[in-house]
Formats: sequence, structure tokens, C-alpha cells
Amino acid sequence: MTAVSSSTHRPVISATGLFTPEQSITNEELVDSFNRFVDRENEIHADEIAGGAREPLTHSSVGFIEKASGIKARHVMTKEPVLDPQTMSPRWPERGNDELSLMAEIGVAAARQALERAGREPGDVDAVLCAASNMERPYPAMAIEIQQALGIDGFGFDMNVACSSATFGIQTAADYIRAGNARSVLVCSPEITSGHLNWRDRDSHFIFGDVATAVLVEDAAIAPEAHWDILGTKLKTVFSNNIRNNFGFLNRASPEGEGQADKLFVQEGRKVFKEVVPMVAEMILEEAERLSLDPAALRRLWLHQANAGMNRLIAQRVLGHEASEDESPTVLDTYGNTSSAGSIIAFHLHSEELEPGDTGLICSFGAGYSAGTVFVRKAA
Ligand code: COA
Repeated sequence: MTAVSSSTHRPVISATGLFTPEQSITNEELVDSFNRFVDRENEIHADEIAGGAREPLTHSSVGFIEKASGIKARHVMTKEPVLDPQTMSPRWPERGNDELSLMAEIGVAAARQALERAGREPGDVDAVLCAASNMERPYPAMAIEIQQALGIDGFGFDMNVACSSATFGIQTAADYIRAGNARSVLVCSPEITSGHLNWRDRDSHFIFGDVATAVLVEDAAIAPEAHWDILGTKLKTVFSNNIRNNFGFLNRASPEGEGQADKLFVQEGRKVFKEVVPMVAEMILEEAERLSLDPAALRRLWLHQANAGMNRLIAQRVLGHEASEDESPTVLDTYGNTSSAGSIIAFHLHSEELEPGDTGLICSFGAGYSAGTVFVRKAA
């Protein structure tokens, strides 16, 4: 760690990075594959269906997906197996222990871009947090593998707060800066959501996409001139079963449940919508008041990217009027829901043109429930 004497203990965002997988699936492609799967299943079970012993599966629809969620396409690490009605899951060869694992690989790609944009050498970074909604394995930590691949001295650890992992990571990193325990912390969020999405579930098969983001949180003393001051961070959790994934290391103790739908992402989407919108809007307004910020004067909201309707309602309650695309940019139309990475993608893609002094909000919400706010102001 570099000398603490030249620290301000004021955390800032020095730069962000983004890795976007090359392949993308449109709603049309997704629904076509899903409906072929449905037809095949119904054909296989035609006798049971005719005898009333089984309910037929129902087609998905492009119109429903776009209207209910705003999602038009999503990026994935592997497209072909996901769209193959016989597979409907990602596929790639297992990697050996001496090869970089896939989550680390895309985390490193995003991290490199953040470091490059900040003009920061990996050797100057003190810590790496891998903050994501699923980890490829329990240990060694993905963060330590990313740390090693980048050549960073110091420490790293994984943290999982589902869709709010990145904002919880930013507050954790900011707290290290505030306490003087670090001056440069990388928060990586590699989200390979295609691995925990049930591509055979009509209610949710359209939701997620794969991506990786990185946020470099640093002490203002060492930050590049063009950075974002962190004005305040706030976290909140409230237990809910409405978004759940029961996959875990104890599954093998209950073999009767192995392979069941609850070992992948499941949700009560409508309940989530209804309960999370007021919770998050209230949290943002309370935090703005604590920071003596006028919510109506926020220049831009980089909201969690799960549902365009949720964002419309939250932005309206915060700003006091219907938000324009300029005030609350959407990335879920082409990225889908990328879990914790969503608000960071929005910030990464839609922050450069803002003016020094402009104030905005990065905000996440999702499973747990969990929510996080990071109020930021452009420095230069
Ligand atoms: N194609 C066509 N119709 C579908 C469908 C599909 N893929 N999936 C569901 N439907 C149907 C349902 O069967 C239901 O039909 P019914 O009215 O005849 O019973 C109807 O559409 C409405 O379903 P519902 O699940 O209530 O839709 P919704 O309007 O709540 O939209 C979500 C679903 C998931 C898009 C929405 O609830 C959502 O985004 N919620 C928030 C999710 C969230 O933020 N989660 C956090 C995850 S990190």
C-alpha cells in the first residue's frame, strides 16, 4: 500500500470498465427457440395432455416480453446451446485449474479497461472485490484469481448481494478509502447470468444477459483529474423469498431436489415490482435529504436495469416528473437484466458527456431484497 500521509480519505470513482460478450440473442430468436421446445414437449407428452394428466406448455411471445420488461435482446457467452431446444443452457469446455476461469477472464477484461482509463498500473491497486450474484466456485475466491491475473499486490475477496452486489462493493471499497485502509480498490462484477437462468421457464427465460463491469474506487488524492466524487453511499436489505435461487453446496444432502427449477433463478416478478418500487424510491429520497441534495435537481439516474416500467416509476417519484431517456438512460433493451452490473453499464455508457458539477445517482435493487445508492458528482 502506498504512503497513507497523502490520503484525503475521500472516496471517488476514478474510472469504470465494461466487457460485453460478442454474441447476442434477440427476442425473436429466443422466442422461436422456446416455442420449438414447447411444441416438442407437448408432442412427447401428447397422450398425457389428451388424457388430462398433464397441462400443455404455452408459447412465449415477443410482444409480451417487450411490453412487460422493455428487453429486446441480451448478450450471452454462448448463443448456440442456449437456443438449441435440446440443450437450452450455456456450454463450454471445463477449464483446468491452471487456466484462468471464465468469470475471472471477463472480470479481468473489464478491470483492465477501468485501469487503463484511470491511467492506473495494477501494482498501484490495493484490493480487488469480486461482487457478483453468483460465483463460479466457492474457493479460491474469484477476486484472488483476478488479483493474480492482473498482478495486484494486496488482498481480494468475493461478495454476493445478488443484483446489488456492485453498489455494496462500491460502498465497501469506499469504506476502505474512508478508513485509510486502502487508496485504490477495484470492484469487479462479472455476471454470467446465463448459467443460473432457467431458459425453459416461460416466466423468466427472457430476463438475463451476460456481461462484466469494473469500478475503480480511489482516494481523491491519487485519482485522475476526470473522476466522480462519491457524495454518499447507502445500503438496505429486507428479507424476501420473491427472488430466490436454492442452488448450493448442501443440495447433495437432499438428492430428491437436485435438478428442480428452484435450483435456478425463480421469482414472483409482479410482487417484486410492486414491493421494490416504493422501497427504492423512498430510500433514494431519504438519502438525498440526508445528503442535502435536491432530488429534482439530479442530472442523471443510472438505475438498476431489470424492468423499464420499474425504472419509469422510480425515476418519476425521485425527479417529480416523467424522466426522459437523457435523465434515466436505459441499457436493458440491448443488455437485458445483467444483475449487479446493470446500473454500472448505464453509468459507464452514459456519463462521459456530463458537465463538471453535475450530480447523479447509481442505484441498484434486487434479490434479498437488497438495494444500494451511490450519489456521485462529476469533478472535472
Ligand atoms: N410470453 C407470453 N406471456 C407470458 C410470458 C411470456 N414469456 N410470461 C408470462 N406471461 C403471461 C402470464 O402467464 C400472465 O398471463 P395471465 O394474465 O393470463 O395469467 C401474464 O403474462 C402476466 O404475467 P406476469 O408474470 O404477471 O407478468 P408481469 O407483467 O408481472 O411481467 C416481469 C413479468 C418478470 C417482466 C415483471 O414482473 C418484472 O420485471 N418484475 C420485476 C422483476 C425484477 O426486477 N426482478 C429482479 C430480478 S434481479
